[in-house]
Amino acid sequence: MTPAGRVLERAGMRVLVSPDHVSTSRLAAQRLSDRINAAVAERGRAVIGLATGSTPEKIYAQFVEWHRECRLSFRDVTSYNLDEYYPISPLDPRSYRSYMHRNLFFHVDIAPDRAHVFDGTVPEKFAPAHAAEFERWIAADGGLDVQLLGIGRNGHIAFNEPSDISDAEALRLPARLVELHPVTRATASADFGGLDRVIPRALTLGTAAILAARSIVIVATGFSKADVVARALEGPMTAKLPASLLQSVADNVTWVLDEAAASGLG
Ligand code: PGA
Repeated sequence: MTPAGRVLERAGMRVLVSPDHVSTSRLAAQRLSDRINAAVAERGRAVIGLATGSTPEKIYAQFVEWHRECRLSFRDVTSYNLDEYYPISPLDPRSYRSYMHRNLFFHVDIAPDRAHVFDGTVPEKFAPAHAAEFERWIAADGGLDVQLLGIGRNGHIAFNEPSDISDAEALRLPARLVELHPVTRATASADFGGLDRVIPRALTLGTAAILAARSIVIVATGFSKADVVARALEGPMTAKLPASLLQSVADNVTWVLDEAAASGLG
């Protein structure tokens, strides 16, 4: 924890607040690497869930730096990414497989056959089976020791988008092929060179697998997240704001925020 940091609690969840994006990323990286090292020490391996987007980039840069300094190894790590556009080639620079390769996998000692990202080239007929299989692999690996999450401006976690389903149903969504929410597509439009070019569907891990992780680190930075973070932490648990569903596993959840993202908290 940086000296200027604060520790809060909301809905039974720990909330760490750091001054800025850099210190927040470092703090999140530290918590994740602590979890990796604890799992490796305990049972010889760690199984981690990884996220993409702009928020985790500095976390991965920190991992790469620690790896170069021989302070962090991924030799005994198996990873599962939350989501992938569909359909997309892994070689497409906008694919999350490509993002992970650029930001982390290429630079560290993770075994390529243990760094899992949904396959955006699977024929559509087989997409549901592929999604279900991904979940079974996680279960067969003993479940996730730690899951890294970001939060979308609309409150999504992975590509579990806001919806009107019952809260009970929202808590046990399986891995599946989904349509992206208009807010998600609008946010992605810069990456795709225009709203009409955004790939409108994705394969995503469901809430069931995410909430089953033994620990969850959710990271948000910047004023653009302040409102949605406040609603997820201080509002009711609702399928309309998927990140609020983390309240159901409060003991396992740590939010890591910068002051800007925490600025809407009461
Ligand atoms: P971002 O995405 O890190 O690019 O803001 C977060 C998310 O959509 O989960």
